[in-house]
Amino acid sequence: MATKEFPLEPQEVKPVYTKYRRIHTPVPVPQSIELLQTLRELEPRSMGGQPPIIWHHGRGATISDPYGNTWLDFSSGVLVTGTGHAHPEIIKAIKEMAEQGLYHAYCFPTEIRLRLIEELSSWLPAPLKRVFLLTTGSEATECCIKLARTHGQNIGGDRKSILVTFDNSFHGRTMGAQLAGGWGGQKSWLGDLDERFVQVPFPDGFRQQDTSFEIFEKSLADKGISPDDICGVMSETYQGCNATIIPAPYAQDLRKWCNKYRALLILDEVQAGFGRTGKPFGFSHLGIVPDLAACGKGISGGMPLSAVLGTEELMGMYGPGEMTSTHSANPICAAAALANLQVIKKENLIDNVVRMSPMLEQGLRRIQETAGDKIGHIDSIGLVGAIQFTSPGTTDPNPEMAWEMVLRAIQKGVMLFAPVGVGGCAVKINPPLVINEDALQEGLEVLAGIAAEL
Ligand SMILES: Cc1ncc(COP(=O)(O)O)c(C=O)c1O
Repeated sequence: MATKEFPLEPQEVKPVYTKYRRIHTPVPVPQSIELLQTLRELEPRSMGGQPPIIWHHGRGATISDPYGNTWLDFSSGVLVTGTGHAHPEIIKAIKEMAEQGLYHAYCFPTEIRLRLIEELSSWLPAPLKRVFLLTTGSEATECCIKLARTHGQNIGGDRKSILVTFDNSFHGRTMGAQLAGGWGGQKSWLGDLDERFVQVPFPDGFRQQDTSFEIFEKSLADKGISPDDICGVMSETYQGCNATIIPAPYAQDLRKWCNKYRALLILDEVQAGFGRTGKPFGFSHLGIVPDLAACGKGISGGMPLSAVLGTEELMGMYGPGEMTSTHSANPICAAAALANLQVIKKENLIDNVVRMSPMLEQGLRRIQETAGDKIGHIDSIGLVGAIQFTSPGTTDPNPEMAWEMVLRAIQKGVMLFAPVGVGGCAVKINPPLVINEDALQEGLEVLAGIAAEL
């Protein structure tokens, strides 16, 4: 979570000219300061958390400002542009739909919605069968919460309404999503918390060393919660605050546990879905299928579109008109999402992720070796990695070091978003799925160089 602002004073930096990076001005660019300053004056402060670079256009794995500077994009926006920036197929799909003369349709049927749903259906393992299109990831997780509560009421009455989620989890910024999230600080505005949202430790192997499933059961017992009162368990497949996937044995035990107690297993795939981890979904690594999955981000390559994937039974609980959203399957977003999913298949991007993944892993290891005990933990799966800066020998966050790494990366032409995670100590590395070996290697070397200077 970004908790501070990057300074707006331009700094002279060493020029960079490579195939993927071009930095030829001070950073931030002096001509951009007025625009940046005005944004800071007119928007809520919360919008000022990212590096002060004006995004103007992108191509594949690079992003450029209007002043002739180009960065190698290790952010993918925020894990969104899997197929890269400005993919010609996506541009074509957006243009064609606009030229067809339809840029809004509410829930009236459209052909493009059908085509997108059919494409999505081809990604789904049984028993996931139905697809509900929405706009944001938060909307998708909120919908999952509603379905879990409704399912609980239907089979066990009002008592069966507890939703279990995990410490340090993130499911979005709306009220239900924040109640479900595992960050105490983000909930202070809510006042009295709903006791039916309960968090247990996430088996990350770093802050929670014991990754056995017994911890899940023990944590609930310690809180005095009966498994029979639980309507669902929701987790990110890998935690977005770093890049730690649920251990497969834990996930399989959780699946069995949910079946036993008739609690829904919900996986938040907003970050993990559609190839980011080197498989279609994050859960494809775990040997399980959830009852519901919330998707967003990489589903569309950049346009606002999200989805809830669910079983026949769960998706039939509400009648016509009872679950809707104004911009559900907006035709232009749907056209972009369809093109995006087809590109992922046509260009074999998941295979590319599998090829690039060991390089990311080795790069992170090298960064850790170079930085020594300043980095407490690294994680990666597919093309998402995280470096957690901590005080030597502890899990205590060291956000200053993380912010410094991001700032220096920007100055050297590698685009990262502001640190996230516990105490803002995690630097995430998540290039588009289209990145090639050359570009990935170059960016990782830049980061290793920075690690040596820290
Ligand atoms: C795992 C996860 N779930 C849900 C969300 C919320 O998505 P949105 O910002 O589109 O509402 C995010 C956003 O970062 C996320 O990473």
